[in-house]
Amino acid sequence: MNRRFSIAIDGPAGAGKSSIARAVAERLGAMYLDTGAMYRAVGLYFLRMGRDADAKYVADSVGDVHISVKPEGGVQRILLNGEDVTEAIRTPEASLAASRVAAVPEVRERMVALQREIARGYSIVMDGRDIGTKVLPNATLKLYVTASPEVRAQRRHRELLLKGEDMPFEQVLSEIAERDYNDTHRAASPLVQAEDAQRLDTSEMTREQTLNEVERLFREAIGG
Ligand code: DC
Repeated sequence: MNRRFSIAIDGPAGAGKSSIARAVAERLGAMYLDTGAMYRAVGLYFLRMGRDADAKYVADSVGDVHISVKPEGGVQRILLNGEDVTEAIRTPEASLAASRVAAVPEVRERMVALQREIARGYSIVMDGRDIGTKVLPNATLKLYVTASPEVRAQRRHRELLLKGEDMPFEQVLSEIAERDYNDTHRAASPLVQAEDAQRLDTSEMTREQTLNEVERLFREAIGG
């Protein structure tokens, strides 16, 4: 395909956005950008300082945080002030810190500018919370991927078990609920479905069914 395109994938935590986005990017030969990883890296910076809940401090010092992404063998590595934090950002503490700092307008402004800069010149699949509404308002295809909180918590619980972390299911579910609340109630770019986004509830869908459906919607969007 010659023409450049962009696919915006938004939705709540644990809906499977990043695994869908990565696979779709691979199928369509596009670049993949996980914007949540960027907020996680900012969250980790302030978590390490013990200041992630201090919105004023975060707003005043976000200029000290330098995030960059480096594609490596199909995996996106993420650098925080030059340090590779790709694995370090995947803890429940970093998740919560990410949702806190993501509510700070100064953080969002920096991240959105960086995301647009990365997207320039590429066909891209981006996943996050505000991609269709804010970052790529003219995306070729906008998807709002969701699943019930219980299904999302089950998926996250299984992922954590595979990493050797045996967190009680009830705790995973309550952290998902807390992040849903933070993401949908913040004043700056809260998570909402873009008016022109297609809604995809994956609660009852396998990964393969989901990918086929996304590809079908994409073909439809480009008129082929
Ligand atoms: O998708 P994720 O769980 O890795 O995202 C981490 C946090 O970052 C999540 O609480 C919401 C926030 N986020 C955001 O506000 N905007 C984005 N585009 C991506 C993530």
